Amino acid sequence: MAFDIDRYARESQALRWEDLDLDAFRRDPLPPETLRVLRYMCDVEFHTVCYLRDMLVTPSRRDGEVSTFMTIWNREEFWHGEALSRVLALHGITIEFDEVKARRIKVGWRDRLAPVRQSVLSNIVGKDFIAVHMTWGALNEWSTAAGYKRLAALTPHPVLETLLRRIAAQESKHIAFYTTQARARLEGNVKAQRLVRLALRTAWEPVGSGISREEDVDFVLSHLFSGPDGRKEVEAIDRHLSRLPGLDGLRLVSDAVDARGRVAA
Ligand SMILES: [Fe+2]
Ligand SMILES: [Fe+2]
Repeated sequence: MAFDIDRYARESQALRWEDLDLDAFRRDPLPPETLRVLRYMCDVEFHTVCYLRDMLVTPSRRDGEVSTFMTIWNREEFWHGEALSRVLALHGITIEFDEVKARRIKVGWRDRLAPVRQSVLSNIVGKDFIAVHMTWGALNEWSTAAGYKRLAALTPHPVLETLLRRIAAQESKHIAFYTTQARARLEGNVKAQRLVRLALRTAWEPVGSGISREEDVDFVLSHLFSGPDGRKEVEAIDRHLSRLPGLDGLRLVSDAVDARGRVAA
């Protein structure tokens, strides 16, 4: 496979942001809409550990490359959450990782049963489940990267832009891993292709759904992806997805934005 997992694990470094002129946010604060999106993204980044937990009861845990990747990836997403929470704190909005975890635990049975359900389902479909996991991961990473790109474009702020560019550099490695894996696992495997199509069509929802309130999901989709430039990004994601083996014709992100991104930004 083209992705060098050992090198990725060796070279992964904490996201740098201490060197940035963070006081710029005091002099030149971000607008409320941008803060609302950042808060959403911070929540998503901090929730990666819950997603990891759900995936560690599936066949993915027995795959060496996948489990190595997930260990490093989880750490990198945590750093993204930390950096964003620092920016939010400078605007008087506090999101602590522990609070997010506590909130998550309080979600209740539905949430606690999720890994169990996941395990039963994934063990029935066996190894092909990993194809679902990898394609799902690719779609989420494409979405996240597009979100950061749009946010930077919508909010010209030199320090925010630098920070988001650094985050995006790590996100692009996540994209590379998931897409390399997804392509290899879908190639020539009609059963896996059918399973992935079914899982995505019936269960995939935009990144942040199930973590954030519905109105926040609608707001963020609308704010980032309505208008011609936003649309272009969304269509690019669908294009990337539909180029994976056996996934032609899927337009999940465009459909989600049409259905949910309807509020005025
Ligand atoms: Fe991230
Ligand atoms: Fe990522």
